[in-house]
Amino acid sequence: MIEAKLDIVENQNKKPKPEGDDLPFGQVFTDHMFTMEYTREKGWFQPQIVPYEPITLDPAAMIFHYGQSVFEGLKAYLNSEGDIQLFRPEENLKRMNRSNGRMSIPPISEELVINYLKQLLLLEKEWIPNEEGRSLYIRPFVIATEANLAVAPSQSYKFMIILSPVGSYYPEGIHPVSIQVEEHFTRAVRGGTGTAKTGGNYCGGYKAQEKAADRGHAQVMWLDGVHKKYIEEVGSMNVFFKINGQIITPELNDSILEGVTRKSIIELLKHWNIDVIERKISMEELLQAYEDGQLEEAFGAGTAAVVSPIGELSWQDETMIINGRQTGDLTKFLYNTITGIQTGKLPDTFNWTETVKEL
Ligand code: COI
Repeated sequence: MIEAKLDIVENQNKKPKPEGDDLPFGQVFTDHMFTMEYTREKGWFQPQIVPYEPITLDPAAMIFHYGQSVFEGLKAYLNSEGDIQLFRPEENLKRMNRSNGRMSIPPISEELVINYLKQLLLLEKEWIPNEEGRSLYIRPFVIATEANLAVAPSQSYKFMIILSPVGSYYPEGIHPVSIQVEEHFTRAVRGGTGTAKTGGNYCGGYKAQEKAADRGHAQVMWLDGVHKKYIEEVGSMNVFFKINGQIITPELNDSILEGVTRKSIIELLKHWNIDVIERKISMEELLQAYEDGQLEEAFGAGTAAVVSPIGELSWQDETMIINGRQTGDLTKFLYNTITGIQTGKLPDTFNWTETVKEL
């Protein structure tokens, strides 16, 4: 059973807030963090907000050895009234529990976590940037803490939420990037952990990312692990193509992450009566569309970058230049609409945002 009473220990030694134009993604953290423990006997207990500081773990803690962990990523914004806004937080917490289920981690009450998160945000409100393109990135995560080298689910866990004021995910902001299609390494396969937001899915991609960077590309595009034929994701994002007026995104197939931005884009396109379809799409089909002059736009979609246009795509010996390496109109419109709703500049007709006021 979760103990609902939240202890708050205020930080007496507050840090200066970041100043100036340079705010690299995920390198500055706020003054407080949320922590909660789990044991088999007690369930989730001891929810607390404490000063942000390093944590101590036994060197045999299972997270260090077999990587049993889950994380999430969402953002908080300040609207024009100066209130805190969250974007579809329940979607992230539902996904966190789906990831927990896949990684044999006990579920956490979504309702309680939203409540604790709101209290943390109210305490850290001054850290939420209100400059264009900036937000407060929220990173909830769970790690296995039992000191035991057995290859089995941990009997104890720690759940934490840390906060980081961020600018654009890519230092250049919304700007078309060059992508290399990865032919050797695989991000995920059906039945694996690709649909869970777990660390191994990300570090398993570093090798391909390094290879792409050596060839001057910003990111990789992932193909399915069995046939190396169908497109799955781009970097750590879902991917969309505009081909002859129709928007295509790979269908969820038990190896693709179910992105909240992906879901929101599909819902927006349907609402605008724009033809959008979730289906398998192969590299051959994409190249054919390009050669026929029908590949109009391509972009990645995720919480961190929101929407990230693809300007150039290299596959085998082919290089496709998409929309003259310019951000496409639909890509720009989606970016402006989603960030507009997130920051309260545009009306939230879908009821996606949640305003956080005093509890
Ligand atoms: C996202 O944009 O949704 C991500 O997961 C990126 C994050 C791993 C930094």
